[in-house]
Amino acid sequence: MAKRVLILPGDGIGPEVMAQVRRLLDRIGGFSIDEGLVGGAAYDAHGTPLHDDTLAEALKADAVLLGAVGGPKWDTLPFADKPERGLLRLRKDMDLFANLRPALVFDALAGASTLKTDLVRGLDIMIVRELTGGVYFGEPRGIEALPNGERRGVNTQVYTTSEIVRVARVAFELARKRDRRVCSVEKANVMESGLLWREEVQTLHDADYADVALSHMYADNCAMQLVRQPKQFDVIVTDNLFGDLLSDCAAMLTGSLGMLPSASLGAEDADGRRKALYEPVHGSAPDIAGRDKANPMACILSASMMLRYSFDRTAEADLIDRACQEVLNAGIRTGDIVEPGMTPVGTVAMGDAVLAA
Ligand code: NAI
Ligand code: MG
Repeated sequence: MAKRVLILPGDGIGPEVMAQVRRLLDRIGGFSIDEGLVGGAAYDAHGTPLHDDTLAEALKADAVLLGAVGGPKWDTLPFADKPERGLLRLRKDMDLFANLRPALVFDALAGASTLKTDLVRGLDIMIVRELTGGVYFGEPRGIEALPNGERRGVNTQVYTTSEIVRVARVAFELARKRDRRVCSVEKANVMESGLLWREEVQTLHDADYADVALSHMYADNCAMQLVRQPKQFDVIVTDNLFGDLLSDCAAMLTGSLGMLPSASLGAEDADGRRKALYEPVHGSAPDIAGRDKANPMACILSASMMLRYSFDRTAEADLIDRACQEVLNAGIRTGDIVEPGMTPVGTVAMGDAVLAA
């Protein structure tokens, strides 16, 4: 049966980059594709950044592809109506606990990195960030008044064994499809939740994934190592807070926001089907929206991740990745990744080039 894909283009450059993805998916075939509204576009149409019907569609789909949400037009809306709330609700209700952020440097762009070329050439890291637990959600939380007139802000870093084990399992499974190395990152030296994290990841490894090489690293050291010698890593698995920082840090090794895809995965149901949302890391880029300037590659590479991780269509995913590589090698670049002596092309021309490749 054709796989059901729900496409939510969103706002700003979202629809522009998604149009290029749509062309690719139509060419590859085998999908039943629906489109819906999210973010500001949904607010304008329905008065809410995510309509219940769209959420229901997302929960039924085999995968969701999202462009980007937000923009100045909706900045003054109350918190509950903001475009970002649509995305947050989607992530929460799909229970997407594992955020996959690849940091991959295409050969053609290694020279354009702000870092030394030899440091990043061939870089291919996958950061797996726990997304629904930890200090961003832990209770108790709040700001309270103290008797002495001071105020105190409280957040709680908390993880249960099942939360740790399910995200670690995703990391080990990914490693098996890559270089079979996982580095688990926490601060077991100063945090109880970090100690539990380390113990649980080690126990899971010894029981089910002894074929994968596991190492442990403190998060502060990991930040240093990512900048010093990033190619030492294959898969990194870490909690919500450290993953937030470390994935942004790793992203900067690769150059432009316009090149960075992501995936967020949920639990497997009884049929082995995993809820999944694929989206570029970048936002709606209002500064270039509507001007055929956005780089569609982050969104195209997100679709490639969908083919790889939701549909096991590895050959087609490889084909897309190679096509992107060829296009970059040929010096076809949007403005965000253009180098001296090259003429930037637009979003549609970039889509044309990838499709042709
Ligand atoms: P942004 O990622 O939209 O843009 C940052 C800078 O990168 C801009 O100069 C933009 O032109 C450039 N850029 C981003 N994507 C690009 C692409 N594909 N090709 C070429 N250049 C690209 O982040 P910003 O400016 O902080 O936020 C703009 C809006 O997007 C805000 O409303 C924000 O809330 C929203 N946003 C949404 C996200 C999402 O939907 N997941 C994530 C981040 C921001
Ligand atoms: Mg962040």
